[in-house]
Amino acid sequence: MKLLVTGGLGFIGSNFIRLILKKYPDYKVVNLDIQNYAGNPNNLKDVEDNPQYGFIKGDICDEKLVEDIFSTEKPDALVHFAAASHVDRSILGPQEFVRTNVLGTQVLLDAARHHKIGRFVHIGTDEEYGSIQQGSFRETDPLNPSSPYSSSKAAASLLALSYFNTFHLPVIVTRSSNNFGCNQYPEKVIPLFITNLIEGKKVPLYGDGFNVRDWLYVLDNCKAIDEVLHKGKEGEIYNVGGDNEFSNIELTKLLLKFLEKDASYIEYVKDRPGHDRRYSLDCSKIKEKLNWQPKFEFNYGIYLTADWYRKNEWWWKPLKSGEYLEYYKKQY
Ligand code: DAU
Repeated sequence: MKLLVTGGLGFIGSNFIRLILKKYPDYKVVNLDIQNYAGNPNNLKDVEDNPQYGFIKGDICDEKLVEDIFSTEKPDALVHFAAASHVDRSILGPQEFVRTNVLGTQVLLDAARHHKIGRFVHIGTDEEYGSIQQGSFRETDPLNPSSPYSSSKAAASLLALSYFNTFHLPVIVTRSSNNFGCNQYPEKVIPLFITNLIEGKKVPLYGDGFNVRDWLYVLDNCKAIDEVLHKGKEGEIYNVGGDNEFSNIELTKLLLKFLEKDASYIEYVKDRPGHDRRYSLDCSKIKEKLNWQPKFEFNYGIYLTADWYRKNEWWWKPLKSGEYLEYYKKQY
């Protein structure tokens, strides 16, 4: 099988490519990535020379490039990770989110349709459903996104599903909860807090700290996407969660414990506008139909993650300068 992966230099995409190359030695993977601030070649340095792997630098919004890639590479399936993904950045500048997440997805869908791709797996997010006070969202629930980011992702997943209904394109959508693990850009809460604590800096906790997220170790998500790619049903949506709901203050206290710091390192800061209170997914469908379960226990996943950031300062230190600092100056 030849797989086209978009956004494979990002956090989840790079972990997914590594899993596929290891698990399927006869597969070829072509990675199309724009290589922007979060698309980091260091994420796949270890596979750069692997003959199964090929890299193309480019933008998913570039129709001609995407058309050329489909004509020359003739992929059997596509897994679409490429997206602008950080909520705070979408509040500072929504346009890039609509461009990449909505228009980029449409360009890929059209090329996939013309070239009759065998499978189009679109990676969505639990944020598309919006916030829920009690209970959990099922795949059949209506979408109610709050931020420019989640709205652009909701638009993209609905667009993808419309290509199944209208053109019979074999689309499948996954919606996953908050991923964490190694190689995550240090703007997301877990790597930001871990690296700040390693640097002896405080951690900026938004609002009252009682917003709840469900945490999913990235390898569990990659294994779910692998199941969906090979066994998922066309036209369907699969929720993917970690069964690990924690408030941000609970998460912060755990990180402080792992990094051997006390509560004086917490700095309560102004809340994120439109900050969703709680995300929660009902994942019984993927568990029952595809026999998938999250395997990584939360504390163990946090231990692995903190340990990785401790040992890999060469990876994250350069990222916390330049463009990163400009972004943080704008935010606070
Ligand atoms: O739910 C899945 C989503 O998870 C993905 O679709 C998004 O791409 C990803 O960015 C993530 O969105 P969140 O907004 O939930 O993640 P983030 O790491 O930005 O924030 C997690 C929680 O921590 C959220 O309640 C806001 C809070 N937070 C975040 C940052 C960056 C803080 O309290 N302080 C911070 O500095």
